[in-house]
Amino acid sequence: MESCKSVKPVIAIDGPSGAGKGSVSRAIAKALGCRYVDSGAMYRAIAWMALHEGFDLDDEAAVLALAERVELVLGDQSVTVGGHNVTSAIRTSEIDAASARVARIPAVRDVLVRRQRSYAGASGLVMEGRDIGTTVFPNADVKVYLDASPAERAVRRASDPAHGVGVAAAALSDVASALEARDYSDRTRSSSPLKIADDAVLVDTTGLPLDSVVKKVLGIVQQHFKRGCS
Ligand code: C5P
Repeated sequence: MESCKSVKPVIAIDGPSGAGKGSVSRAIAKALGCRYVDSGAMYRAIAWMALHEGFDLDDEAAVLALAERVELVLGDQSVTVGGHNVTSAIRTSEIDAASARVARIPAVRDVLVRRQRSYAGASGLVMEGRDIGTTVFPNADVKVYLDASPAERAVRRASDPAHGVGVAAAALSDVASALEARDYSDRTRSSSPLKIADDAVLVDTTGLPLDSVVKKVLGIVQQHFKRGCS
């Protein structure tokens, strides 16, 4: 298969929380030698910094001013905002909810979308998020929308080591409720709501192990290259 070095594609991977976007996107980027960017980490980092500075998340002007001025660095394995390494700190249920609130502010989205677009060009790019195929890169070479049943997404989120040490089975219903609330917020916001792009390929990952999903998505990318990258 062609690598990112030769064609520099933009690959958009969207979908709701817990659909497996992170693991799949990282694996695809690695297989193709592309850069991987987690756009959700940007919303999370702004939310973390806003709370750290004691802002009211309803104060849209303050959150916007923060998003405009703060230094946000996405490393391969790390996230730094305003000089704070927040790689693990942004993976909490508090930041899950806070990031979805920050993501509802259209002007904050504009600032982050500009930053997200700046990642294209130098090398090929795999970017995961909610609006990558619809808004950030409407002309992305390949668009994939990953989904899974709500029950499976809750189980995956509850057992994700990046989100703490895992959640006791008794708390699974809390995880499912929080996921549902965040999905609702992401799907109903006025600016760039979560939805499948007209030209995206839907992959239902329910019941599929990670390597099967990665194979499927790599197959979709390969098809694109075979068709002459049209
Ligand atoms: O993907 P992740 O769960 O880390 O994203 C956290 C939140 O950031 C999402 O619930 C969503 O509200 C927001 N987000 C977004 N657009 C993106 C990526 C994330 O609105 N492209």
